[in-house]
Formats: sequence, structure tokens, C-alpha cells
Amino acid sequence: MSIRIAGTGSALPEYVRSNDELATLVDTNDEWIRERTGIAARRIAGEGETVASLASAACERALMDAGRNAEDVDLIIVSSCSAEQLLPCMACQVQKNIGATKAVCYDLNAACSGFLFALNSAYAYINAGLCKNALVVGSEVLSKLVDWSDRGTCILFGDGAGAVYVEGCEEDKGMQSIAWGSDGMKGDVLSCNTREGFITMDGKAVYKFATRQVPECIEEALAKAKLTAADIDHYVLHQANIRILESIAKRLSVPMEKVPHNLEHYGNMSSATIPVLLDEMHKCGTMKKGQKLVLSGFGAGLTYGACVMTWEMD
Ligand code: UT7
Repeated sequence: MSIRIAGTGSALPEYVRSNDELATLVDTNDEWIRERTGIAARRIAGEGETVASLASAACERALMDAGRNAEDVDLIIVSSCSAEQLLPCMACQVQKNIGATKAVCYDLNAACSGFLFALNSAYAYINAGLCKNALVVGSEVLSKLVDWSDRGTCILFGDGAGAVYVEGCEEDKGMQSIAWGSDGMKGDVLSCNTREGFITMDGKAVYKFATRQVPECIEEALAKAKLTAADIDHYVLHQANIRILESIAKRLSVPMEKVPHNLEHYGNMSSATIPVLLDEMHKCGTMKKGQKLVLSGFGAGLTYGACVMTWEMD
């Protein structure tokens, strides 16, 4: 048995922080940020906009899109590395907020790969017959973990949440293959100690890791699905930096038209980037039923992963 995405949803904070506003906080400018990252703006959570509230809104929208009821959801996995509260977990708070009374709920933290890892977990559980459907969510309020006096990091990150509703389907449909991995030996290059509070990063090391490891991982997922890079219609990649996306596209020899991006509007929302982008693409009618997608996430840990799937929605 495989899984298919049957609904998507997202929720973004209202407040938009432009590059020009950042230039009033640190020594930077719009031109530098756009040129080095592709980012023009990001959303910043205000009062009442939390990891749990954004995740809940994204889940409600995904369920509405799928035409399913919260009471029938079997499993909720929230991926986040920025939860404001440790207990109860974010997924249990989502359960309460949306009324998914019979769901099993837990959180997962694999940073920017978190959504993909959560999707893989849902696949494994549904494939094993432990449940029939799941809500898989990436939700982040990174603005609380960013040092707003560090121009090397504060320009990159933003807040938001995205969710997909998945259910079991025939083996040859939906999710076709998975490749993933972790390299804890290099964990220091991107870290956040909750006591000290802020994200610290060796930007160049992360850049190198992403541009080398991600294409390899995608190639592995493609080989497992018996497909080539050219067979894929859309590469839905973690939105970290436009130059990283361009480098990955070049290494795979795929045109940038197949690598959609919205990082200019939202920056890097860690585990939320892939489901938010998927939701935008779905709502714009970008994906046609039967088209092939690669999803790929990478980030702190270090962690990375890719999957190949067929889009099964109209
Ligand atoms: O989910 C994964 C999350 N992490 C990432 O995606 C990070 C990946 N890495 C990157 O995106 C890039 O490394 C950055 C965008 C963070 C930095 O770009 P870079 O091309 O590696 O720049 P750099 O760190 O080598 O800095 C170049 C110059 C330096 O000045 P000097 O030493 O040449 O005089 C920096 O001090 O740019 C300076 N600089 C800035 N200038 C204006 C660094 N940050 C800024 C800034 N505005 N915000």
C-alpha cells in the first residue's frame, strides 16, 4: 500500500517584514539580501499566532480541501523545531483545536527536513496498517529563535505553517520512493540551544552540504522509483535560498521552470516551506493529476531527504 495527498492547507501570519524594515535593525540592504538569497520579505507571527494555532488553521484548510471531517482523522504528526511549549505536544494541541478526537498525535523535530520525515512516517504507519489516514504538518515560529541583531541569520527566516491530509492508496499510485539520511557529525554548523535562545549557523557549510547532498539524495530516490530527473514535472524543494535551488537544478540538469519557489515572499520557514509551497501550487492549479513530483528537504541535524510521488488530485 502507498499514500496519496488528498488535501492541502496553509496558514501564514499577517505581518510582512520587508528587507527594508530589516535594514533598520541591522547593517544590511534589500539588494544584498535579494542577490544572495532571493528573499524579499517574510511573515512574522504576532500575538496569538503560535506554532499550534498556525498548524491548526493549516490542518482545518487541508481537511476542507480533502472534504474530510476532523473526527475521522487517525493520526496527526506535527513537525516543528520552534514549538513555544514543550508539553502538551503541538499535535495534541492541534487535535484539541480542530476536534480530531480519535487521532493519535505526536511531534517530530528534524528541522527543515521535518515535513518530509513526517510524511515518511505517515507512509510507514499507513503501509503497516496501523492507521488509514493522517494529517502531516510543518509549523514554525522561527522569529522567536532568531537573533535580530545578527545579519548573517536574521535575513533568512520566517514564520508559517502548511499541512497535507494523506490516505492509503494502491501501491503504484501516490508515494513511489523515499531516500533519506542524517549526519549528526556535522550538527554544529546549524544549531539552536534553547537556554541561549538563538539560531547560530555556518552559512557556507550549510550551503555546501545542501548543494552536494540534496542532488545525490534526489538521484537515489529517482533510481528507486526507476525514473530519471527529466521524468519529473515539479521539484518541490525546501525553500532556503534561491542560489541553493539553482545549484541543485543545475546538478540535476533540470530547468528552473520545474523548480517552483515562493521564498521571495516567505523566506525560510524550515519544515513549513514544502507544504506551504505545495498548497500554493495546488490552489493555483499548477499540478495536474498523474504528474510526477519530487519533494526534498534538508537542514539542521544535519538531515536530508527526498521522495518521488505521483500527484493524485484533480
Ligand atoms: O535550512 C537551511 C538554512 N540555512 C541556509 O540556507 C544557509 C545557507 N547559506 C546561505 O544562504 C549563505 O551562506 C548566506 C546567505 C547566509 C550568506 O551568503 P554568503 O555568500 O555565504 O556570504 P558570506 O557569509 O560569505 O558574507 C559575504 C560578505 C561578508 O562581508 P566581508 O567579510 O566580505 O566584508 C559578510 O560580513 O557579506 C557580509 N554580510 C552581509 N552584508 C549585508 C553577511 N550578511 C550580510 C547581510 N547584509 N545580511
